[in-house]
Amino acid sequence: MRQLPQLLLLVISVLQWTTVISWNPSEALLAALVDTSQLEAGMPQQVHIAVTKKNTEMSATWVTFEDVPQQLEFRKVFTTKTKYVQAATTKFVNPTGWVRYIHRAVMTDLSPGESYAYQVGRPGYLSKEFVFKQLPLQPPYNILVFGDLGVYNGESIPALLQEAAKKSFDLIVNVGDMAYDLFSNNGQTGDQYFATLEPLFATVPYMVVAGNHEAEENFNANYTTYRNSFTMPDEGFGDNQFYSFDVGPIHFLGLSSEYYGFYYLYGMEPVFNQYDWLVKDLEAANKNRATRPWIVSFFHRPFYCSNENSEECNAFENRLVRDGWLQMPGLEPLFIEQGVDIAFWGHEHSYERFYPRTPTPTYKEVADPYKNPAGPIYVISGSAGCHSGYAYFGDPVPFSAARVNDYGYSRMYVPNATHIHFEQYSVEKNAVVDEMWITKDKQTKFEKKTKEAEVIVCHPKDMHCHKQKESEQYDIEH
Ligand SMILES: *[C@@H]1O[C@H](CO)[C@@H](O)[C@H](O)[C@H]1NC(C)=O
Ligand SMILES: *[C@@H]1O[C@H](CO)[C@@H](O)[C@H](O)[C@H]1NC(C)=O
Ligand SMILES: [Fe+2]
Repeated sequence: MRQLPQLLLLVISVLQWTTVISWNPSEALLAALVDTSQLEAGMPQQVHIAVTKKNTEMSATWVTFEDVPQQLEFRKVFTTKTKYVQAATTKFVNPTGWVRYIHRAVMTDLSPGESYAYQVGRPGYLSKEFVFKQLPLQPPYNILVFGDLGVYNGESIPALLQEAAKKSFDLIVNVGDMAYDLFSNNGQTGDQYFATLEPLFATVPYMVVAGNHEAEENFNANYTTYRNSFTMPDEGFGDNQFYSFDVGPIHFLGLSSEYYGFYYLYGMEPVFNQYDWLVKDLEAANKNRATRPWIVSFFHRPFYCSNENSEECNAFENRLVRDGWLQMPGLEPLFIEQGVDIAFWGHEHSYERFYPRTPTPTYKEVADPYKNPAGPIYVISGSAGCHSGYAYFGDPVPFSAARVNDYGYSRMYVPNATHIHFEQYSVEKNAVVDEMWITKDKQTKFEKKTKEAEVIVCHPKDMHCHKQKESEQYDIEH
């Protein structure tokens, strides 16, 4: 969603008791938020873990406010043999002047399916002990999917912390826009986000992609806080923005839609780097379908949506990532050609599930469209709770299957290689409000309609207009 200036937010929060603008952060949320003034400078804090390219490793990333050497110690639970890893430390100086020390360490030689306990810090100044389970090689898996979660109005936070306590999840997939924003308030908004969610992020690998709120475009900072805050699997580009990793029968792809959205500031090269890498990665994944049948992607900006702010759903923003622009190739034709099964998105602050994206009206004609789906299945999960309050819906696009604007998040359950269950949980109703089974026992070749149209599109930011061939794969009205 478009950036709401901090000042406006402040005005709204002052006004909320006196005017009709009324959304009040719940007491549970206010009680859950960590007070950043209580964070001690020499203590390790904001611990979060992430998978690497190897299924025997787990990386940990954390912060101190002072320049102090850090290490990580870990052991298999119920054993006493402890291993120590020296952390690599980066002094991060944000362009607006504030400083954080970012520490990183990788735990190696882990056994898939086993649980490990670890602490970070230095003698006398250690974090608490966290326990995580190294992802097993085989299902079942429980995966948390959410996006667009802030601290102000972050209504899913109490429920997410309960899920952490129950050890509900093996993996977290985050579709971008965090904290609103990680770099706001001299970095303290990010501190509060990470410190509050540490019980979850330090115990379940937290896999992220950048949203538009991570771009730091006001300072022309090229995602610098985002890039410095994480340690995603390394594909040789070192900016945490696109990568793949495997979880049992699933090949996951984290991608940047924001490379497209901000090309006018940061250049087209990142788009080309990602696309070239993605083509190779998908070709390799397709050779491996017999052992790993699913390809699941996640990124921030949707190809399609049917929210009230149709400016975003029907116009340039989505077309850019989906169909491409200027020399930049769009992602959807590649997804169809390479048979990407699922894409998770955020950006819209609501939940929307779509029928498989097939040449219409196929999805209407089959009894169970989610069985051996004939096109990618898209889901928007951006309703975790953020600054801007409730999202509203406009007219649904023809292949929209379900829409919910309650605050909440999504859970993906993978019992085996042929079945995926997906559900949307409403924190307001404390109930599952939408669900589906996706099943696949054979790979369907995705079909493309080839009617080509020539349209004129203009980039809203640089006023660049351009005639472009658009392959009208579907009966979408532009
Ligand atoms: C921004 O960062 C990307 C790497 O993520 C780099 O390729 C690009 O050149 C940078 N752009 C600018 C303007 O610094
Ligand atoms: C996979 O899981 C589903 C749902 O639990 C079940 O119905 C199906 O029989 C399982 N398939 C195999 C091969 O175990
Ligand atoms: Fe967004």
